[in-house]
Amino acid sequence: MSSSISTIAVTGGAGFIGSNFVHFLFKQADFKGIVVNIDKLTYAGNLENLVEIEKKHAGKRYFFKKADICDPEKVSAVFTKYAVDTVVNFAAESHVDRSIYGPKEFVHTNIIGTFTLLEAAKESWGDRQDVLFHHVSTDEVFGSLGESDFFYETTSYDPRSPYSASKAASDHLVSAYFHTYHLPVTISNCSNNYGPYHFPEKLIPLMILNMLEEKPLPVYGDGKNIRDWLFVEDHCSAIYAILKKGRHGETYNIGGENEWTNIDLVNRLCETMAKKNNKPKDHYKKLITYVNDRPGHDRRYAINCDKIKNELSWKRSVTFEEGLDRTVTWYLANSQWIEHVRNGEYHKWLDKNYQGR
Ligand code: NAD
Ligand code: DAU
Repeated sequence: MSSSISTIAVTGGAGFIGSNFVHFLFKQADFKGIVVNIDKLTYAGNLENLVEIEKKHAGKRYFFKKADICDPEKVSAVFTKYAVDTVVNFAAESHVDRSIYGPKEFVHTNIIGTFTLLEAAKESWGDRQDVLFHHVSTDEVFGSLGESDFFYETTSYDPRSPYSASKAASDHLVSAYFHTYHLPVTISNCSNNYGPYHFPEKLIPLMILNMLEEKPLPVYGDGKNIRDWLFVEDHCSAIYAILKKGRHGETYNIGGENEWTNIDLVNRLCETMAKKNNKPKDHYKKLITYVNDRPGHDRRYAINCDKIKNELSWKRSVTFEEGLDRTVTWYLANSQWIEHVRNGEYHKWLDKNYQGR
């Protein structure tokens, strides 16, 4: 049985994918419920991502609660106050590089935070089966691939970074609550997202912002690592399909079937930016700078997402060309958003510590 989806608690709703998901929900004609956004507002949480939602729906169908998902009292209070029947757990520390320099916060938020949410759901829901705890996870839990294989839902977990290890642990906890307590859960493991509101510590927005300032474009190692890219709206539609039709206890892979080496992607992005800014085709490519590799850098990710396509009739709707175009257009049109992020403490730290690695 699927959830009634009356009140969705979206954790990490002020982050990149979470805020896109809130926007997505309010565009769905068949979604009539309310959204409670639970977010601690770390450096990655930005309420500017949700200004239009606030204006239109705050106090009626949208509520924001600043809270740490590791705080049992605050989390349980949200379940009670808003009669939460669906959880979509995005809240996490999400950046692999940061997890290498400071893993503690990743262990805390990603593992203890998920555990705290699971406990609150179990307490609040009892034996109910008309509810759903959806946990948003990553393809990185599967480790690194050779040249030709794919990650399937049945692939064994083999996380390599503190980030992916903490996500793997949280996935196992979610699965354990299904088997042990019959808590209705689903899990999704998705590939690399890109699109509006992406925090510029991650490859695509970092490159766009650096191009705008004519700064070096740092490519790790030999630039031949491969990622599978999915436009964020397509990730949101996949999660929505799981909320509506996903089977309890199941895991769904989500991917773009769209593999790029980092260097090819950066070159492509340089061309898209040059076109938009009326510069010669190779203008930004001269900024590409190879830097030291990320320790433990996974070589290749590639998702097989036949299960969600066949079972839930999901398919991606945005081509890579369109997605990149929409992403670059969004950053060019949102200079104030960029300015505020750039003025933030975290971005200053990033500037000082990352560029020359
Ligand atoms: P993000 O870093 O942009 O956003 C994370 C959000 O969680 C922020 O708003 C932050 O304030 C909030 N948060 C962090 N710690 C919290 C805590 N203790 N309590 C409450 N809120 C907290 O991350 P994202 O890229 O939007 O990723 C969202 C989720 O999707 C993560 O779970 C991530 O593992 C997963 N995921 C991301 C990608 C990707 O390409 N970005 C791909 C697959 C899966
Ligand atoms: O695969 C899903 C994962 O994708 C998510 O679980 C993570 O939350 C998300 O951050 C992302 O992880 P990656 O490590 O793949 O994303 P990132 O944008 O940091 O890096 C993408 C690739 O680009 C990776 O191979 C490292 C490389 N890179 C990254 C940065 C920031 C560079 O070469 N230079 C850079 O400056």
